[in-house]
Amino acid sequence: MHRAYLKSPAADIQTAIDYLPHAEERLRKEVWQYLQSGSGQGLTSARNRKVFEDVSLMPRPLADVRGGNTRVELFGQSFSHPVILAPLAYQRLFHPDGETASAMAGVAQGGQMVVSSLASQLLETIIEAAGQPLWFQLYWQADRETTLRLVKKALSAGYSAVMFTVDAPVKQAAIALPKDVSAVNLEAPIALADATGASVVFDGWMKQAPGWDDLMWLRDQITVPLIIKGILHPADAEHAVSLGCDAVVVSNHGGRVLDGVPGSLQLLPDISRAISGKAKVLFDSGVRNGQDVFKALALGADAVMVGRPYIWGLASGGALGVAHVIRLMRDELEMTMALSGAKDLTAIRSGTYVYQA
Ligand code: FNR
Repeated sequence: MHRAYLKSPAADIQTAIDYLPHAEERLRKEVWQYLQSGSGQGLTSARNRKVFEDVSLMPRPLADVRGGNTRVELFGQSFSHPVILAPLAYQRLFHPDGETASAMAGVAQGGQMVVSSLASQLLETIIEAAGQPLWFQLYWQADRETTLRLVKKALSAGYSAVMFTVDAPVKQAAIALPKDVSAVNLEAPIALADATGASVVFDGWMKQAPGWDDLMWLRDQITVPLIIKGILHPADAEHAVSLGCDAVVVSNHGGRVLDGVPGSLQLLPDISRAISGKAKVLFDSGVRNGQDVFKALALGADAVMVGRPYIWGLASGGALGVAHVIRLMRDELEMTMALSGAKDLTAIRSGTYVYQA
């Protein structure tokens, strides 16, 4: 029998990671594994955490932080904190309210959510629940025409930015979906192209994968902000910005695509140096609490996305759980700022608040 959802935050939850056991006991084993796993041997997911642990905070007592705040402005929209809900597929696997619960919680907490191409509820339904524009995450749909129809569907539903994920053209870590959960906004599942050549990868999957020319094409199709997600090399970040991207998400997809790549945090300072001032720098992969948010901001991010942690909240208590996870992170961020003497996000980005041995 399914355990009842939490109706208020449980007493043992002090920080997002405390939701782990509550989520695990409410999810089927396959779903839990789908959520938590990294690819391969899990080297990259482990490294994502290790690199955060290796960065220390530098306390600065006696600073005057009265009137401090965590506000951030992105693409003309103002948010009360920099914690954005990352695009995460098939959220009805985790709770019957799915994406609408996450979106409502994200917006109620003064932040933003990015809705996946693989959402399990209609784009219109999710935005209606949120009551304000959300951002849409795009997976390339095999050809330009189908891709454009999907983007137009999102824009006409009221989505105000497109986040194009480019690091996962070869989809591997799928899950056998139950009958009542599917990618309801897609026309048809993407089939593997006829692999007439020798290699399923090069002649099959990669034949349908997007390239730089497709990014350039996409830029020309839309006027809303275009964010590219899944960049680790500073030269790729610069290239994307030179083609008109408004933001780059420094991300390794939470360690779920190519195992063995660096922790995203390792590349953040270089990418930030390469593009800041020209485009916004977003960051994800491995953020688990407000101290991590602070570290990412101090190393050059304008805002941060979280993936698995809000799903732990969703699986445990629906919208309430998601809202609580965001609230905890925001409170931890404020506390870290206060003890570090940084009164706002600009101060965090310009000061020397972290110590790397
Ligand atoms: C993802 N992620 C992802 N990214 C994306 O662009 N579109 C998607 O549909 C999904 N789906 C998805 C499903 C699951 C189960 C996970 C765990 C992740 C990646 C996600 O947006 C983000 O990059 C990572 O989750 C960030 O790492 P953390 O916060 O989970 O460590």
